[in-house]
Amino acid sequence: MEENNNKREEWGTKFGLVLALAGNAIGLGNFLRFPVQAAGNGGGAFMIPYFISLILLGIPLMWVELAIGRFGGNRGHGSMPGMFYSMWGNRWSKYIGILGIFIPLVITVYYTYIESWTLAFSFFSLTGKYFGAESRESMGAFLRGFQGVESNGYFSSLTPAIIFFLITISINIYIISKGVSKGIERLANIAMPMLFVMAIAIAIRVLTFGAPDPSHPENNPIAGLGFIWNPDFSQLTNGTVWLAASGQIFFTLSLGMGAIATYASYMKKEDDVATTGIATAGANEFAEVILGGTIAIPAAVAFFGIAGAQEIAKGGAFNLGFQSLPVIFQKIPFGQFFGFIWFLLLFFAALTSSVAMAQPAMAFLQEEFRIPKERAAVIVGLILFICCIPVIFFLKHGFLDELDYWAGTFGLVFCALFEVIIFAWIFRMDRGWEELNRGATTAIPKIFFYIIKYITPMFLFIILVTWFYQNAIDVLFMKNIASSDKLYVWGARVMMAVIFIGLTFLVRKSWRMKKGL
Ligand code: TRP
Repeated sequence: MEENNNKREEWGTKFGLVLALAGNAIGLGNFLRFPVQAAGNGGGAFMIPYFISLILLGIPLMWVELAIGRFGGNRGHGSMPGMFYSMWGNRWSKYIGILGIFIPLVITVYYTYIESWTLAFSFFSLTGKYFGAESRESMGAFLRGFQGVESNGYFSSLTPAIIFFLITISINIYIISKGVSKGIERLANIAMPMLFVMAIAIAIRVLTFGAPDPSHPENNPIAGLGFIWNPDFSQLTNGTVWLAASGQIFFTLSLGMGAIATYASYMKKEDDVATTGIATAGANEFAEVILGGTIAIPAAVAFFGIAGAQEIAKGGAFNLGFQSLPVIFQKIPFGQFFGFIWFLLLFFAALTSSVAMAQPAMAFLQEEFRIPKERAAVIVGLILFICCIPVIFFLKHGFLDELDYWAGTFGLVFCALFEVIIFAWIFRMDRGWEELNRGATTAIPKIFFYIIKYITPMFLFIILVTWFYQNAIDVLFMKNIASSDKLYVWGARVMMAVIFIGLTFLVRKSWRMKKGL
């Protein structure tokens, strides 16, 4: 075997590491999910719980995941079963760690499909294919036609969607097969600067919209900014808004699923966790609240008014990004160009995230089974491809939504709770604190010792319990699922169960973990 498995890969440069981590965190969540969550939860009412969650959950967990990852990586484990095992030593820890491969893998299954839509739509913008679908209704028909939810004058088959999906998944497999520094880091070095340039260009374009409809001067981008940024303290007691805000913090920072830990596992022993964590969270928040917050909602407010923007947000992220913004592109000069840039920006954001989601499974296969990375990439790609087939064909039956609920919403909090308990209570916080600060150029303020030990786990526990009662029971018993769709939703659950059981089997079989190496 050509590859030497005892020597793990490392990041090429410190800047490359931060760009890769920023690429991991900055994704569709920043440009699509955030605007929808903010507008759907009252704009300014959302931002206070959002920033509190950032301080009490986001940043502490970012540090914890980086420290867990660096610790495990220095002991040869880039995925969570081995990381937990090296911190705890209990045989059950390996099985709990499966969450750190399972969750990102399930999310990648539908995330790469959505990613392929952004590639398709940047192409359709360039060629002007949707130009002429000038209302939100007809753009909706265009999108549904593309997704195969209905057959109409725009699309009569799923073939274009499948072609773009195959292109997207091939690009992903190619990058992860090149490894960490030659694949992921190189991608981040090119894609992230371009992403920021494109996002800034579009944000400036949106801010110069003025009032497109002279008879409604109140509909302008500045009013949209005001909608997001005027705080509403009366909402601080609204539990739903808190759940939405903390859920967004998890999702956008890629926390609670081991993807950050896997990237951190390629850090050196003395690399700075404290500063890297702040740089990653800072870059992500800049892309989210400044850039993401200045594009979609202010644009929608300028063209459809505040009530219109809120209504669009109720229709979800796809409604906003793939339906409403294309209507706007058709009304501005050089709209084809701006549409192209918008969707290309989304594609780069998504691509640098999807390779991060696939990496825990890659590390697992490479390290615990001595599979060379090229072959591991093909195996992961095949699993993704097979699992994505029902997502593509059963989209309208809620298959994607079911995966997103259990893995992308509930699972994250569950996994994060384990991470912080293992770190602060089993590994113990005094040792954890040493881990966090080793190599740090600026020490982490001591108050975070107590936040990580007490507040973050409590906060997570409360979220989990509230969620369970408010929401999860209904989802579990399929309260709001049409009876004709129940079989498909069961299908999604069976698929998740198969993946989980498969991973359990693999963890048991792994030669290294059996030996406790
Ligand atoms: N943070 C990504 C976004 O904002 C989405 C995401 C969630 C993610 N979990 C992840 C990305 C794990 C990479 C790895 O879109």
